[in-house]
Amino acid sequence: MTILIDNVSVRFGDVSVLEGLSLDLRERRIGIIGNNGSGKSTLARLLNGLVLPSAGRVVVEAFDTRTHGADVRKLVGFVFQNADAQIVMPTVAEDVAFGPKAHGLAPQDVAARTEKVLAQFNLAALKDRACFNLSGGEKQSLALAGVLALDPRWVVFDEPTTMLDRKRAKTAMNAITALPQHVIVVTHHVELLEGFERVIVLEAGKVVCDASPREAIAHYLDTYI
Ligand SMILES: Nc1ncnc2c1ncn2[C@@H]1O[C@H](COP(=O)(O)OP(=O)(O)O)[C@@H](O)[C@H]1O
Ligand SMILES: [Mg+2]
Repeated sequence: MTILIDNVSVRFGDVSVLEGLSLDLRERRIGIIGNNGSGKSTLARLLNGLVLPSAGRVVVEAFDTRTHGADVRKLVGFVFQNADAQIVMPTVAEDVAFGPKAHGLAPQDVAARTEKVLAQFNLAALKDRACFNLSGGEKQSLALAGVLALDPRWVVFDEPTTMLDRKRAKTAMNAITALPQHVIVVTHHVELLEGFERVIVLEAGKVVCDASPREAIAHYLDTYI
């Protein structure tokens, strides 16, 4: 199970955001750190085709994100920082069912998947609740449930803990690391990456360190603080 980033550059107009990036991602727990504007979100979004390379290619298993976006998005789920950006339907159960439906699953499979993830995330009792009046924590659970309802092999998180206090950040990170999927997490909370297999440090669109959490975090903290 591999995501291959092959000599990828991303430009927005005249601005180069990522430059000649090559990475072979296969570990189960990968962290991405770096200063604001270093290209972390752009890199994260490349992984499921939300952003396409200006040059080079991104290949998930055998699928090029440029030509096989729908296949890629079945394999790679993406969890936004802001749960509100992820929740699209009026009620909890409808929201979880939305992804599987949109990907063309048969109605009985949509129902089975929905029921399973609602139970898994302790949302079964809330299934008919209006999404807008959920608590912040419940919304986060729902956003993740909606992504996992597609049964992805990889889940990419862009700053999942940035808006949380330390206690909630730790709880959210425990839930993330307990997932059976391959997980890629962009974060500023570097201490939460302890126990990850690999941490990548970005600086101005380039990888400046790609190592164990201990080494990568030390590099990042030494360089910037
Ligand atoms: N769609 C876009 N159009 C123009 N510039 C963008 C776009 N997305 C990101 N950028 C710019 O690319 C740089 C890297 O952004 P981003 O990947 O969001 O970094 P990070 O997540 O590390 O803060 C920033 O300077 C940002 O302003
Ligand atoms: Mg970002």
